[in-house]
Amino acid sequence: MSQKTWGGRFVGETDARVVEYTQSISYDRRLYAHDIRASCAHARMLAHVGILSPDEASAIVDSLSEIGGRIATGQFTYSTKLEDIHTHIERALTEKLGDLGRKLHTGRSRNDQIATDVKFWVRDHLDAIDELLRDVQRAFVGAAQKHRDVILPGYTHLQRAQPVLAAHYYLAYVEKFQRDRDRLADCRKRVNVLPLGAAALAGTSLPIDREYVCKDLGFDSIAANSLDVSSDRDFLIEFVFCLSMIALHLGGWAEEWVLWATTEFNFVDIPDAFCTGSSIMPHKKNPDVLELMRGKTARVVADLTRLMLLVKGLPLAYNRDLQEDKEALFDATDTVIASLRLAEPVVSETTLRREAIESRLEDGFLDATTLMEFLIARGVPMRSAHEVVGNLVRLCETRRCRLVDLPPFEFDNVHPGLSPGVYTVLGVRNALAAFRSYGSTAPAEVDHQLEAWRTRLN
Ligand code: ARG
Repeated sequence: MSQKTWGGRFVGETDARVVEYTQSISYDRRLYAHDIRASCAHARMLAHVGILSPDEASAIVDSLSEIGGRIATGQFTYSTKLEDIHTHIERALTEKLGDLGRKLHTGRSRNDQIATDVKFWVRDHLDAIDELLRDVQRAFVGAAQKHRDVILPGYTHLQRAQPVLAAHYYLAYVEKFQRDRDRLADCRKRVNVLPLGAAALAGTSLPIDREYVCKDLGFDSIAANSLDVSSDRDFLIEFVFCLSMIALHLGGWAEEWVLWATTEFNFVDIPDAFCTGSSIMPHKKNPDVLELMRGKTARVVADLTRLMLLVKGLPLAYNRDLQEDKEALFDATDTVIASLRLAEPVVSETTLRREAIESRLEDGFLDATTLMEFLIARGVPMRSAHEVVGNLVRLCETRRCRLVDLPPFEFDNVHPGLSPGVYTVLGVRNALAAFRSYGSTAPAEVDHQLEAWRTRLN
């Protein structure tokens, strides 16, 4: 009897190089638990429709569980000759049950089997990542609360722009990670459609019950076209796109904190536990974790590109190219999980350097735009107000002072009667207090959002 599941029509041995080249067991072994779980459902379904007897199905399910236990505890030997995880498990089953084991593959193909295993695996990891994202969101909300009284300079073009509450800053990331979670939830709808029963590509003449398997495995619905589902990896690409967005969000935040940890910024104090040193410069404390989080974005986005290129120009239905999807999927998933696991403690254990931030907060004309809006409220056309404040800023620069240091007549020259009221919006604290629009950094708005997130994430 051939080792292979497809040996019947072949004479002679497969070239050893082909065995090595075509194997996927070196990486698809990670799918073993999902493969076994799906095979158990398939066996129970075969009994449900009368293809197997109830006793046969339970013998198969028991043996599959035993095999799963052996794999989990490292008491299972793999061989590239057995190609993939499906063949390994089926082979082990047949070694235990003889001919009964040889009945398990009735009414299915490895094509619908692998699509099912991968969807099942993606679903579990998608749910785990959603939880990790929620933990990271909670860390950002916690940091927002802890630093509720801190005002930060807000930047555009990395130049000082307007003041923002630190809480507003932290909640910005909570929003981004919420969109990531919403995207995952939407992706899950397409993931949770059952392929099993599509068989090789056209379905089967055997009286299988796909509804039964669907319920057993917790899928929401059944793929309606066998040709489509055997070639469908959209769900995978979508999932890795979701991962890419998460990685991009993490990478942007990491970049910000790499800057914030510099002597020049000196905004954050990242605990020693999350930094590393230099082998030559004794004073160094480097934010390597954050740098790697930024750097690992490249891997995830490359994995996405790899998957899109993989399916480019593929005809229906299963093509062996699809075997190449797994390593990119695993790499992107592992990378994002590892990053999220670190993002959570880095955020919750890092504190803002209040004094350093405060000592330079009045630099950079963070109140200039509020001054302009104050003029607008007094009836000055926006473009004129813009120009006038621009002139005042230039004056301050020559005098090396702040807007608030200008004497009343400088403002009254600009617009009669501007002083003394103007001083109520000058200076960073006044400027911040002047905000009022929905979604702005207005303290009342931020408190409202903070409260809403706390309730939502609890
Ligand atoms: N290892 C294969 C994969 O990952 C399983 C499906 C193999 N199907 C086939 N007809 N050779 O795609």
